[in-house]
Amino acid sequence: MKEAFNPAINVIREAFAYQNRFAGSTMIFKIDFPVTTGTGFSYLMKDIALLVNSGIRVVIVPGCKEWIDTVLLKHNIVSEYSGAERITSDNAIPLVEMAAFHVATRYMTGLSASRVDAVIGNFVRARGRGVIDGVDMKYTGTVDKIFVSSMRRILDSGMAPILPCIGWSPSGKPYNVPSDEIAVSAASALAAVKLFIVTAGDFLKKEQLIIPAHTRTTADGRILRLNPREADEILMLNKYDDQETAAGERADKDRKKCLDMLRLALSASTAGVERVHIINGCEEGALLNELFTNLGVGTMLYADEYEAIRGIRNSDVPDILHIMEPLVCQDILIRRSAEDIQKKKDDYVVYVIDGSVHACGALHDLGDGQAELAALAADKAYSSMNMGRRIVYYLIEKARGLGMRRVLVFTTKTQDWFELLGFRETSIDTLPQQRRESYNYKRMSKIFALDLFGKPAGGS
Ligand SMILES: CC(C)(COP(=O)(O)OP(=O)(O)OC[C@H]1O[C@@H](n2cnc3c(N)ncnc32)[C@H](O)[C@@H]1OP(=O)(O)O)[C@@H](O)C(=O)NCCC(=O)NCCS
Repeated sequence: MKEAFNPAINVIREAFAYQNRFAGSTMIFKIDFPVTTGTGFSYLMKDIALLVNSGIRVVIVPGCKEWIDTVLLKHNIVSEYSGAERITSDNAIPLVEMAAFHVATRYMTGLSASRVDAVIGNFVRARGRGVIDGVDMKYTGTVDKIFVSSMRRILDSGMAPILPCIGWSPSGKPYNVPSDEIAVSAASALAAVKLFIVTAGDFLKKEQLIIPAHTRTTADGRILRLNPREADEILMLNKYDDQETAAGERADKDRKKCLDMLRLALSASTAGVERVHIINGCEEGALLNELFTNLGVGTMLYADEYEAIRGIRNSDVPDILHIMEPLVCQDILIRRSAEDIQKKKDDYVVYVIDGSVHACGALHDLGDGQAELAALAADKAYSSMNMGRRIVYYLIEKARGLGMRRVLVFTTKTQDWFELLGFRETSIDTLPQQRRESYNYKRMSKIFALDLFGKPAGGS
């Protein structure tokens, strides 16, 4: 086979795999108001329409805060707040309704351009927040119930429900309900597979927050993915007091926005949403990139096991061969057949991201308390994501668990990398006899070793 790496083909493969998996599932889009004012909005709507047309059930929850502020100000109403929550007064609620429906119609317009039917509906039953700490919240409400069967009827007929930030009491009294709360309640009630938090701007970058050293980030500093425990850790490290904000300070505003989004993502995750994605709605193609590629372009909070190192299954063998092939062609790895791998199946592990194999490695017992780390390869499109390193650490721990005293590796091109991980060059004389006899003198690989006693994995 010829050099197999072709980024475009890989993207198409990933996209098809995801499309198959998501058809028929429900996704909620909570979209911040400023996104609707940007030039990218029409593209975002086109991409959402594409999802609807490909069989994904889409629900839109428009954020409206800034537009409500504008409308109220035009009518000389300055909102009072209790903490971060607006107190919706008697004279404000008709204007809030008007503003909420005005924003919802922007989505109707956007989807109409792609001939996707949408319905702005009264799908939220609300009740008043009442009096909190002596403060009457007036027409500010909370979600009492999502009318799931009505929404399902709309979704079943291929239409997209739009939920403005208004809910009604059983007697028909309107309440202003935060769109964040509506989005989480709808996602939970409809058992959505994903909630997208679509913002206007690049958030959750490492320069905006204090983050633990183990947080997965990309080269440009984007926080790639977090599990709920890690998200919680970031919230703790950046404990934020609203009083702290010096007015107009950009860095503080960005930090607050990041933390608000993390809190929202975490509450969705706690409510049972498996994946929450935070993306920049002003970046063209961000939605499709995030949805249909493993690396995405946003930040994902995942409640389940998203990436893992595990033993191999029969169905992994073609993927392993596919990852190795370009490296075999470059003479970096020796050629192995499917049978070779099957024969030593228990020695192999794979690095899996969202169900797809992206790296592999093996640990062979050489006897005499020594093991050989071999067949280590990472998918080129996913290099420098620490997958190689994590497989090495995993196999070192495995060797340690098996009571091995030394891990060896034979390499022609990767000595510097192994040295970084704590391996040191050794001579052929130190190999167990059988391995000494099978050493390929034509290939002349260098031999590196890591002594295990007392050393943590990866330490040099
Ligand atoms: C070695 C290999 C497994 C690393 O996989 P990976 O998932 O990209 O590894 P990591 O993310 O943990 O490490 C990447 C870092 O190692 C560096 N690196 C990769 N290959 C290297 C090499 N041959 N020599 C020195 N450094 C190397 C990268 O430049 C990167 O540096 P950065 O973190 O400063 O950007 C991968 O490059 C590969 O498949 N190589 C070919 C196969 C091979 O050599 N196998 C070992 C023989 S068994």
